[in-house]
Amino acid sequence: MNNLELPQIGLGTWLLTDYNELKAAIHAALEEGYRHIDTAQMYNNEADIGLILEAEKIDRNDLFLTTKIAPMNYLKHTRASVFGSLRRLKTDYLDLVLLHAEIQSELNLQAYKELIELQKEGKIKHIGVSNFSISGIQYLIEKTGVKPYMNQIVCSPTTRPIELETFCKENDIQLTGYSILKPYFTPNPFYPESALTSSEKQFLDQLCEKYDVGIGQLLNRWAIQHGYHVIPKSSRAKRVIENYHMDFTISDTDMESIDQMNRFSAEEYQENVKQWENQITDQMLEKGLLYDTHFVRDF
Ligand SMILES: NC(=O)c1ccc[n+]([C@@H]2O[C@H](COP(=O)([O-])OP(=O)(O)OC[C@H]3O[C@@H](n4cnc5c(N)ncnc54)[C@H](OP(=O)(O)O)[C@@H]3O)[C@@H](O)[C@H]2O)c1
Repeated sequence: MNNLELPQIGLGTWLLTDYNELKAAIHAALEEGYRHIDTAQMYNNEADIGLILEAEKIDRNDLFLTTKIAPMNYLKHTRASVFGSLRRLKTDYLDLVLLHAEIQSELNLQAYKELIELQKEGKIKHIGVSNFSISGIQYLIEKTGVKPYMNQIVCSPTTRPIELETFCKENDIQLTGYSILKPYFTPNPFYPESALTSSEKQFLDQLCEKYDVGIGQLLNRWAIQHGYHVIPKSSRAKRVIENYHMDFTISDTDMESIDQMNRFSAEEYQENVKQWENQITDQMLEKGLLYDTHFVRDF
């Protein structure tokens, strides 16, 4: 098992389900120097990633692989689903496994306990959560005594959850920000108010000119300066390459101007995500479905 720390920049793969697109993105990323790939059981691309990485002949010890447990697996299938992810990703351990979302507290706890066991068995190096609230994390820690290594959360100039961010930092829980670019292009469906206004976009475009960078570099760099790991996704090799290069510094004044765009209501967002997750989870539990056989294309 490797001893890699989580790299600051990784490749996001949500919506990268076209094999050739995914292959081109991963190839460009590895060539450029990315050594972290973020996927999830729900992204339906673990098997393709496994095949692509095998063909790339990348040394497993040089790669940090993250996946996430689909909420419909929390009740009974966390363990089996991790073995499914291992098989699809063609590896005998995962660097980081997250609970993809916070749902009912007992289900979260059940799944988290399974991850703790799998970590003890050496199948997972680090365990963590995604989209978890302060109280959701506190509950897990209180019941198990084990702190999550990571909380992967939404973060962009308009959707920065400051209270949660502060809590995680104070408790040594690392942060990964996702959908950092979404408000610039396609508003987050869970939070329509996150869309940037045209004057905000104009301002960001001016900053891109000032620093001579693209919008991907600017906004991901902004998140890094706030202490986040980032996992930008692009289906285009050119952007994947561009996003890797963030060796510039945004001035304090410009950071503050970007920060002022924040209009995030953590409660509202959490509620929207939770409703969606609960709906799916209830349907799955009702039907007694095993996630593996219904949602994941396998080889
Ligand atoms: N834990 C969770 O619940 C959760 C939720 C959402 C996402 N994530 C993870 O976080 C990753 C990143 O989030 P995301 O995919 O929502 O969005 P993102 O990285 O913010 O990117 C949004 C869109 O911006 C475009 N883009 C990327 N780089 C660009 C650049 N340099 N210039 C211009 N446009 C650029 C991409 O479109 P093109 O493909 O057309 O280039 C992409 O679809 C995901 O892939 C996934 O791994 C996790």
